[in-house]
Amino acid sequence: MAATQGLEGVVAAQSSISSIIDDTLTYRGINIDDLAENACFEEVVYLLWHGKLPNRTELEQLQQALRENAALPPEVLAQLKAYPKTAAPMEMLRTAVSALGMYDPEAGDNTQEANLRKAIRLTARISTIVAAIHRVRQGLEPVAPHPEYGFAQNFLYMLNGEAPSEVAIRAFDKALVLHADHEFNASTFAARVTVATLSDIYSGVVSAIGALKGPLHGGANEQVMRMLEEIGTPERIEAYIQDKFNKKEKIMGFGHRVYRKGDPRAKHLHEMSRELAKLKNDPKWFEMSEKIEAIVVKEKGLPPNVDFYSASTYTYLGIPKELFTPIFAVSRVSGWTAHILEQYANNRLIRPRAEYVGPTKASYIPLDQRD
Ligand code: COA
Repeated sequence: MAATQGLEGVVAAQSSISSIIDDTLTYRGINIDDLAENACFEEVVYLLWHGKLPNRTELEQLQQALRENAALPPEVLAQLKAYPKTAAPMEMLRTAVSALGMYDPEAGDNTQEANLRKAIRLTARISTIVAAIHRVRQGLEPVAPHPEYGFAQNFLYMLNGEAPSEVAIRAFDKALVLHADHEFNASTFAARVTVATLSDIYSGVVSAIGALKGPLHGGANEQVMRMLEEIGTPERIEAYIQDKFNKKEKIMGFGHRVYRKGDPRAKHLHEMSRELAKLKNDPKWFEMSEKIEAIVVKEKGLPPNVDFYSASTYTYLGIPKELFTPIFAVSRVSGWTAHILEQYANNRLIRPRAEYVGPTKASYIPLDQRD
């Protein structure tokens, strides 16, 4: 049995949630461009969970359910405040979501109906947790969820403690739509592996958060902003990128395991970054990003992925870089839970094989005879 490094090209299961075919991404068959232009995040959440777009009543019911379930159990909120000052936001998120499971009275009920209710609670509360993490890290009191706001609006409100602008709400909502699902990416696969043992939905989402945290996956967006700040000024770009190439280091926010011609989500974030830069009259991060893109495309033929222009877009929205990856989770929890529901509905343990390359004829050496 020969192993495929990184499972590249391996088709691990059937799924009808999202597809990447010929560099085109769809959620339930609807092109991501169509959704990015027309759908709000809650419509996409419904679409991922139920396989069809909601009618008006269904959408309003989901929005209401997300609002009603957004408040955190007081114990989880108190724990968040007690985490070490040195903890990274993704570590805080991972731990808080794990704690959420212990305060969910339905945690042990693995029926599809209970899991859908838990998916609503997880989606509503991860948003509240991420906003609270930001507040706690700033030494500020967390802001309780607003009883009337939509999902994107509520997150920005809980983050900053004031009503967000229409422009910020629309931009953030679109970013949420673009990040909601992505076939068998590493974190989604981690979630599916976990629940395929018939472990619970919270364990699946905690596994996913752990996988998302890494810089080769969701952690890349924060690293992009660190790079932009490290470079500092447009004149330093050329030398900085060449130095990275010479050292054979990766440029964060470029390349993809599946896309060859380019990530279809990137162009939307590119445009959002351009528009926000203009609106804020602050072109620096956008122009630097475009310059980096030109060099990486020319020298390596690698187009930007979803993370590259997310960095400048979020920065223009006033979101600190440490929150970029947690925000990815705020959206992607919808996809994780859709995949978890799909996995449970037609489950089989996920247990691949390894190509063993170690010795086969070794024998036991008694302790006192070893070097
Ligand atoms: N910068 C520079 N070179 C890159 C690169 C990048 N961002 N991404 C890939 N490459 C190069 C690799 O060095 C390798 O070159 P080589 O064949 O000469 O050794 C080749 O392209 C293949 O890369 P590899 O890492 O094997 O591809 P992969 O399919 O395993 O990895 C990613 C895919 C996304 C992990 C990879 O492109 C990457 O690390 N990108 C940066 C992190 C990132 O943005 N992650 C978010 C993904 S949405």
